[in-house]
Amino acid sequence: MDHFDIKDGVMHAEDIALPQIAEAVGTPVYVYSRATLERHARVFRDALDAVPDKLIAFAVKANPNLAVLKVLQGQGYGADVVSVGEMRRALAAGITPDKIVFSGVGKTRDELNAALDAQIGQFNIESEEEGLELAELAEAKGVEARCALRINPDVDAGTHDKISTGKADNKFGVPISEAGQIFGNLADRPGVQLRGVAVHIGSQLGDLAPLERAFEKLGELVRALRGAGHTITHVDLGGGLGVPYRKGESLPSPAQYGEMVARVTKDWGVSLIFEPGRVIAGNAGVLLTRVVRVKRGINDPFVIVDAAMNDLARPALYGAYHDFAAVAPNGADMTANIVGPICETGDTFAMGRVCDQLVAGDLAVFRTAGAYGATMASSYNSRGFIAEVLVDGDKSAVVADRIDAGSIMDAERVPDWLE
Ligand code: LLP
Repeated sequence: MDHFDIKDGVMHAEDIALPQIAEAVGTPVYVYSRATLERHARVFRDALDAVPDKLIAFAVKANPNLAVLKVLQGQGYGADVVSVGEMRRALAAGITPDKIVFSGVGKTRDELNAALDAQIGQFNIESEEEGLELAELAEAKGVEARCALRINPDVDAGTHDKISTGKADNKFGVPISEAGQIFGNLADRPGVQLRGVAVHIGSQLGDLAPLERAFEKLGELVRALRGAGHTITHVDLGGGLGVPYRKGESLPSPAQYGEMVARVTKDWGVSLIFEPGRVIAGNAGVLLTRVVRVKRGINDPFVIVDAAMNDLARPALYGAYHDFAAVAPNGADMTANIVGPICETGDTFAMGRVCDQLVAGDLAVFRTAGAYGATMASSYNSRGFIAEVLVDGDKSAVVADRIDAGSIMDAERVPDWLE
């Protein structure tokens, strides 16, 4: 459920009419709803009521906006970060270091050092090599890094190939069969306290079965590691729960996920970490755009909007579906190709889509753009970065300024020797 509804014929974000935002801030613009973020944060937490000891760490990559992180910090959430940039954002939003988990397959020495200095709660190391490097850096500082070893469970998550992470040939984690040896090799290092295991098999999961298989494998591994004398106190179950992008699409609910997690992990006797991203932020944001022009096509007309693949990359990258709707629908519909202005055919949001009837100048939204939207933007075609607005009831604020192409150009220079 979200808070983007039609009231008096016009789509609102909570109590604010979207045309008001378009007028004030211009388009395209991302609009987030605080009430929706908080609702999703609560629903996810409540679904895990039966799990006594846990940390829910929002996957910052899904939406790193500071105001969004602040809302989630207010809900008691921690942060799953994958770069020093994300770590700094989490800290700036007031998330305490003990609630920060650092994931990622390619953490640099500088990043490991910065995270050690910040005394974050846990490093999810993705290889023995990383563990040894972290041990060396921590020992040089005379500190101990709390770590979990990310396992690649070799489970097919059944999601898009580009966001699948738990198959044996994916770059993430280590094979279960090597975990015992890696624990053994790191056990004596004073710089690391390898206290658990972690898993994340993919994103936008529409079926709980692969997750359950992965968790069961992890449970067996925890038993085996304990049998070999290792102390296991923490297990990180990652993120991945999908959200409905299409009307009427049915996906496993947080409650069903919570029930499965509680059942599978009930005898583990560990503190569990969760890293949800999309399920918290996805439906809490829309991309508000204006129709530039409607152009005749061979079959269907092209509705050319002012948002493009650089603002919302998911359709171009993954062929992802985002619901597209008029802000002030007139009741009629049309079949159209929804495209952006960028000079490649990949800049297509939808082909042959039945949508609300639109003419030049109309406002429309791409829904479910709160996760992996603004965060994946680029400045391709020198289009700059668009603004982000957070709505809270009848209040709204620009929470990220538009960065126009000119400011980006200001960071560039022509060397003397080219003059
Ligand atoms: N934890 C780890 C280690 C991850 O790699 C991810 C996402 C998450 C948690 C959060 O997953 P979520 O709950 O959001 O599914 N750009 C793609 C999604 C990439 C996801 C990458 N990892 C998209 O737009 O669909």
